[in-house]
Amino acid sequence: MNYKNATWRKEMTLTLDFNNMMADYIGVEQGLTDKDFSASKGLVDASFNYVSANRGTGMMGWTELPYNQKEIVEDIIATAKSIKKKFDNFVVLGIGGSALGPTAVFQALCHLRHNELPKSKRKFPKLYVEDNVDPERMAALLDVIDINKTCFNVVTKSGATSETMSQYLIIMDILKSKLGDKASEHMIATTSENKGNLIKIAKEEGLKTFYIPDGVGGRFSELCPVGLLPAAVVGIDIKEMLAGAAHMDKICKNKNIKKNPALMSALLEYLAMQRGKNISVMMPYADSLKYIADWYCQLWGESLGKSVDNEGNLVFVGQTPVKALGVTDQHSQVQLYREGPFDKVITLIGVKNYRTTVEISKGCDNIPDVNFLCGHTMNELITAEREATEYALTTANRMNYTIMLPEVNAFTIGQLLFLFELETAYCGAMLNINTFNQPGVEGGKNATYALFGRKGYEQTKLEMDNAPKKDSKYVI
Ligand code: PA5
Repeated sequence: MNYKNATWRKEMTLTLDFNNMMADYIGVEQGLTDKDFSASKGLVDASFNYVSANRGTGMMGWTELPYNQKEIVEDIIATAKSIKKKFDNFVVLGIGGSALGPTAVFQALCHLRHNELPKSKRKFPKLYVEDNVDPERMAALLDVIDINKTCFNVVTKSGATSETMSQYLIIMDILKSKLGDKASEHMIATTSENKGNLIKIAKEEGLKTFYIPDGVGGRFSELCPVGLLPAAVVGIDIKEMLAGAAHMDKICKNKNIKKNPALMSALLEYLAMQRGKNISVMMPYADSLKYIADWYCQLWGESLGKSVDNEGNLVFVGQTPVKALGVTDQHSQVQLYREGPFDKVITLIGVKNYRTTVEISKGCDNIPDVNFLCGHTMNELITAEREATEYALTTANRMNYTIMLPEVNAFTIGQLLFLFELETAYCGAMLNINTFNQPGVEGGKNATYALFGRKGYEQTKLEMDNAPKKDSKYVI
């Protein structure tokens, strides 16, 4: 309950260092100046006011998740406790926003080899997040879990997504054939209360159900039951995570951009886009944050990649989000980031205190080129490598900035998620687009329905049948 202590909260507050976005560090040709900030004041104020005015309404219901879930959180914690007692495995069936958040938070806040730990050390069920319909993956899952000891959580906001519903059909069939009447005790549904097919099915089957609030879109849903239930099942303190989100929210209620990291990072990315930086690289220096970069890619790409603005004009905006991992990708991608086209902004995420310290052992006394490593820690090495990348990018005049986490814990992860969600909302407002829809994703979903002959999609099927046929001369 450290998060109830104001001094601890202050110590655990994320920082945003954007020195290396500025002309003073990367030169006038690539960098920003204070003049750019003053020229953007109207845009920044409008974006701030838009987000403030629309909090909790329409598709911005997610802004209230840190505050309005007291009863649900208690229900989730109680459910997680009973799952821990009865089951060895918890399997999430979902895709996109229904899977990326649970994966990211699990990787961030649990032991990095959680599923491989012996039960005595793991203490909580194993977690699997199944976000694909690759038949080999489904078969592999079924090879490693004992269905009698497994609880499934089918998660879909629309209650209609083909991938998730096909997984549900397969698993429910297996559960019924193996467990008969007890099948429904092994399945929890997380979905919309009033729309879609899953809620109807859940009622018919008598499944325990959690709801995804109406104003919470898939990619903004990690802090509702979509993410909170799997997190609680693996022992994560979800109250601390929500407190972290509320802490960041409070910081970002400041209209002064120099004190509001979400507004500032939104402006940095917006100004970068104006200068042709159409690629946003997210590069955490921690394996625990590897899938936060994945989650960010969906949030940023699906929210900001839009063809029309709010007035219906064709704009084709958005940055291509790219995930990278420090230091691993220093040995692959950083060559491109430093010497390739000037089309990227690189966000580094650093961690001040890693949760463990590993010393580099003494040895190779007669080989100074190896021996220089001795007496240091891996902690020092990863930190030095992050600073070295920052230096390398900056001296090559590449826009980069750093988000620093004092440590990785539920409070800082709550802050990080909320920071990115607010940043996305601010940036979408600056771009004057609808941040919260996803017609491109729905286009793909509809085409799949049509190909599978779903009722109501006959017109799409007709259009697909009439599309130009592929020519074998272009297949070699
Ligand atoms: O952000 C979104 O809305 C999407 O990416 C969805 O999360 C994804 O398509 C899955 O949708 P659903 O939760 O309806 O199954």
